[in-house]
Amino acid sequence: MAKLKVGVLISGRGSNLQALIDACADKDYPAEIVVVISNVPGVAGLDRAEAANIPTVAIDHKAFDGREPFEEAVGEALSAANVQLVCLAGFMRLLTEGFVNHWRDRLINIHPSLLPAFRGIHIHERVIEYGARFSGCTVHFVRPAMDDGPIIIQAVVPVFQDDDPDLLAARVLAQEHRAYPLAVRLIAESRVRVADEQVVIGDFRSQDGAMINPAPE
Ligand code: GRF
Repeated sequence: MAKLKVGVLISGRGSNLQALIDACADKDYPAEIVVVISNVPGVAGLDRAEAANIPTVAIDHKAFDGREPFEEAVGEALSAANVQLVCLAGFMRLLTEGFVNHWRDRLINIHPSLLPAFRGIHIHERVIEYGARFSGCTVHFVRPAMDDGPIIIQAVVPVFQDDDPDLLAARVLAQEHRAYPLAVRLIAESRVRVADEQVVIGDFRSQDGAMINPAPE
């Protein structure tokens, strides 16, 4: 069967991109990355793509007069590569309603919190400051509002009493690297559909058990 053609949008180090690259290295994985686009030239994520022989495009948003012309260039690069699914992976630009609606249900994002809690930035600092006992990550379809949209998959990690944001970020990131390839696989296997703004997954299998934090004595 033909593989789902994925375009990945990045702005930085690209560790989630790497997780997707690694997943795609398996010949049985049902998706392939056909282009990686960064709005910041020279970032490590572009090197990762090049090392994997994936075509890259740097489209510096600063070179454009406003969001629309920038997004037009991004859209052209995606179309030129025949992209079927766009994955935002640490892409730090807000997208206009026009772009988001054009790619509706073909555009996903990974966010390092359990949405709808802790949208935006400085998430891990805010989770710790709030005293939340759990955090995690969310892969969701993108809607025009920031960090909003039907949830595909979430992973949960405990927050420790003596946590610091870097430690928590690393704990969450390790789960991001599992969750994102899994979400893309489910989509590529045509097991994901959106009905009434909720994601319905064919052959849904849930993780067993529950976590309590702090643990029961
Ligand atoms: C990740 O934590 C992701 O959830 C967030 O930005 C970070 C990007 O990291 N949207 P990387 O570039 O994938 O390493």
